[in-house]
Amino acid sequence: MSIVFEESNRMFLLQAKDTCYAMQVSESGYLCHVYWGKKVRRLHPEEIVRKISRSMSPSTDGRNLAFSLDNIPLEYPSYGNSDFRNPAFQVQFYDGSTVAVPKYKSHRIYPGKPALSGLPATYVENSEEADSLEIELSDDTAGLRIILLYTAFRDRNVITRSARFQNNGSRKIKILRALSMSVDLPHDRYDMLQLSGAWARERHIYKRALVPGMQSVESRRGASSHQQNPFLALMSKDAGEKSGEIYAVNLVYSGNFFAGAEVDQFATTRFFMGINPFDFSWILGSGEAFQAPEAVLVYSFEGLGGMSRTFHSLYRERLCRGKFRDRARPVLINNWEATYFDFNSEKIMRLVQTASEQGIELFVLDDGWFGNRNDDTTSLGDWTVNLRKIPEGLSGLAKKVIRSGLRFGIWMEPEMVSRDSELYRAHPDWCLHVEGRERTESRNQLVLDLSRQDVCNYLENMITGLLTGAPVSYVKWDMNRNLTEVGSSLLPHERQRETAHRYLLGLYGLLEKIINKFPNLLFEGCAGGGGRFDPGMLYYMPQIWTSDDTDAVERLKIQYGTSLVYPASAMGAHVSAVPNHQVGRMTPLATRCRASLSGDFGFELDLNRLSKSELREIKNEIDFYKKIRELVQFGILYRLRSPFQGDMAAWMYVSDDQKLAYVSCFSVLSVPNAPIDFLRLDGLNPDREYTVTSTGKIYGGDELMNVGFPLPVAEGDFQSWDWLLTAFSN
Ligand code: DGJ
Repeated sequence: MSIVFEESNRMFLLQAKDTCYAMQVSESGYLCHVYWGKKVRRLHPEEIVRKISRSMSPSTDGRNLAFSLDNIPLEYPSYGNSDFRNPAFQVQFYDGSTVAVPKYKSHRIYPGKPALSGLPATYVENSEEADSLEIELSDDTAGLRIILLYTAFRDRNVITRSARFQNNGSRKIKILRALSMSVDLPHDRYDMLQLSGAWARERHIYKRALVPGMQSVESRRGASSHQQNPFLALMSKDAGEKSGEIYAVNLVYSGNFFAGAEVDQFATTRFFMGINPFDFSWILGSGEAFQAPEAVLVYSFEGLGGMSRTFHSLYRERLCRGKFRDRARPVLINNWEATYFDFNSEKIMRLVQTASEQGIELFVLDDGWFGNRNDDTTSLGDWTVNLRKIPEGLSGLAKKVIRSGLRFGIWMEPEMVSRDSELYRAHPDWCLHVEGRERTESRNQLVLDLSRQDVCNYLENMITGLLTGAPVSYVKWDMNRNLTEVGSSLLPHERQRETAHRYLLGLYGLLEKIINKFPNLLFEGCAGGGGRFDPGMLYYMPQIWTSDDTDAVERLKIQYGTSLVYPASAMGAHVSAVPNHQVGRMTPLATRCRASLSGDFGFELDLNRLSKSELREIKNEIDFYKKIRELVQFGILYRLRSPFQGDMAAWMYVSDDQKLAYVSCFSVLSVPNAPIDFLRLDGLNPDREYTVTSTGKIYGGDELMNVGFPLPVAEGDFQSWDWLLTAFSN
């Protein structure tokens, strides 16, 4: 068992590969946090959970005046009886009071990992992979039970956590806050790293030193958001890409979240994450339960690189599911930036024909194929093919595409409705709204109320009909606005603040049904690009359109930042036209291809406007990608140069057996009289010889990692290089 309970000092010890996580039940029954970090053989909890009498810190234990919740490390802190820091949860009882005192009641340790009811979560395939622990905390006065669930993965530096609230009393309890995790770390000598940005500028890396008080990130948009990712890392001051300690948390959730670190008066750090308490509450009737989402906790003593590799393999192997989890992803062409709404089947077939000649494997028909949709003002909700554009119907077009040697995929945005649509005219109450208030539009659309079962049932039938009516192999599931007037006409007034979370539960339930009905389809998530790039979505869809920004230079930062947590197999990356449609930049085709080769490779431009030599270049890149795609999609990532720290970006993928490596390097702006530069590689076997396939030159793994690979001098802006290395033994 990787989890034990030591009776002698009432301590829980969780061992996950090289990580240890420990908690202790205090004499008076509070659950204290003892340790999270590198594996140790023994712990002295009495020295960590130290009781010191401090002025202004009230004691909750009459027998021991030095015992104050305000100055000991806690595991799932409450509010109201002496801890003044950020609470992990807060409830309100029938009498209006908000003081809860949950104490240890019982626990259960068992092999394996349970699923979370109605929510996405990491999983195991056999019970040997992990052990789980449930700790029951109870506030007997109010009949409130909180079950903290922990799983320790034996071969990964991963602990997962979540919390379930149960009302065992006879009166309603209102949950005001139910975070998924909270950990009190012993000092404040950390930098906090977050992934933040905007539409078309997602997941840029920001780092700041912790200071006393709260520092947090959150989403109030109803989606995990372009602006903030549900991820935070605390880094030791000496930590970097290759070394140092990292404590990282990622929430398996696609909606409003709240995450942060609070440094208290004694320089300890409370690190927390969960559903955003802002505009949230949940009424728990007698006998009912509420499940908070899962938080994934990764500890690394090998810097950010080690952290990323832990997240990548966990997400690839034990978060993503279905046929495409372990399968090479097809090279696709999407007509969005090629045609926008202006297409008909002839134009599409011309594009498909040229795509087929280049070796592209999948065609994706993007927005505009249904209803009267010739721009973004109309028809979302009317998912019947526009016969003026596609006279042969969806099925007819799909068959033609298939005859040309490509598979057929379609774009949908099922969660949305246009005011100008048959669906909205028939069911104006089916969208999120607040009675008597204006319904705010964004991109001319409203959001369907997925907290309603009837709406979800309708969507399930509609999608089922569509996907069985045509030979579709792939679906791009888009979501192009955030939630406003978050209210539901079916919920009673006291439950209106449940709407945003119920929306997510409805969405997850719908996705679960759809992916089970269509196990052979590849689903790609999208939310105006990367507005919902989170582990919650990856549970249903193994890849996500990383960003609406397809500029190769912008993509360096976006993909580099995204790679901190999410594997290359999750990142849709397409070559687009120049001047780039988002930023107007001209970049060489080779650089556009190389930036996209580091993800799920695809195209998003009118191939028929390219010259013969450009088409030849594209064909070569596609042939090359087909050789290396398993390496990129399922290999081990080592980041070599950060675009956030200079004008270069470089990274490499290494196969499990270290026999194959693919290195990509980008120079943004060229400099005059440039210094001679060597790129030190990583992750190779130092004792092996590696051949650079393009030149035939041989280097030792030790040489490549310690001396480095000699970089060419960039002649012009936006240059790039890549190398494939193959190993042989002497
Ligand atoms: C936003 C997506 O990110 C784009 O790729 C495209 O599908 C448009 N929506 C279509 O409306």
